[in-house]
Amino acid sequence: MNNIIIAVDGPSASGKSTVSKGLARKLGYNYADSGALYRAITWYILDCRIDPNNNAAVIKSLDDIKMQFNVLNGVVNFLLNNRSLTSEIRAESINKYVSIVSAVPEVRELVVKWLRSMADCGNLVMEGRDIGTVVFPNAYKKFYLDASSEERAKRRHNENVPQSESMSVKEVKESLSNRDKLDSSRKIAPLRIASDAKVIDTTSMDIDQVVDKIASLL
Ligand code: CDP
Repeated sequence: MNNIIIAVDGPSASGKSTVSKGLARKLGYNYADSGALYRAITWYILDCRIDPNNNAAVIKSLDDIKMQFNVLNGVVNFLLNNRSLTSEIRAESINKYVSIVSAVPEVRELVVKWLRSMADCGNLVMEGRDIGTVVFPNAYKKFYLDASSEERAKRRHNENVPQSESMSVKEVKESLSNRDKLDSSRKIAPLRIASDAKVIDTTSMDIDQVVDKIASLL
């Protein structure tokens, strides 16, 4: 595998998605959102009325998932059992359970295998929680984006996602903080800063400033 990988990790709503997309566009690399795959599996589990806290049932359900990937306009897209998933994986019901599902070792093993295979399709900017630490420990460059919890809650609240319609900034902040706690404390591949990652606090930066800063560091 000789393609160049840039890893962008960080907590919820730290600006990873928008920055990673912008960076990939600027560099002419492909962009991949690893969190979308954990969200998609969580969506499938809930859609099948499986209890996300029942590890054995969650693991069993993985056998019924067929994931297909394709790259369109520099974005790695996926179909789960031939179905395209968009806004449904951003619902608050998914936010509520995704950190529980993503802590299951078998789920992570499967997703990491999918993520690594994306490196075969070209140079890649991939965002997530463990991209620099676990998925691509030899990535060419690693970035860890962070922002204050207030700023992150405001950003997520302003996004055009289903939960922002009915939740206050305070509720969004609680939901993010709950997920961050679970993601940082799990045994396997917890959210942490890779020793060789460059940390960027984006609290008072806009997207273009972050993209430019990363580009200047590359
Ligand atoms: O967009 P946001 O930052 O809110 O989250 P996301 O990137 O869509 O990730 C959703 C969830 O997937 C996270 O809260 C983690 O539980 C899980 N995840 C993970 O465990 N490892 C990754 N590399 C990416 C996401």
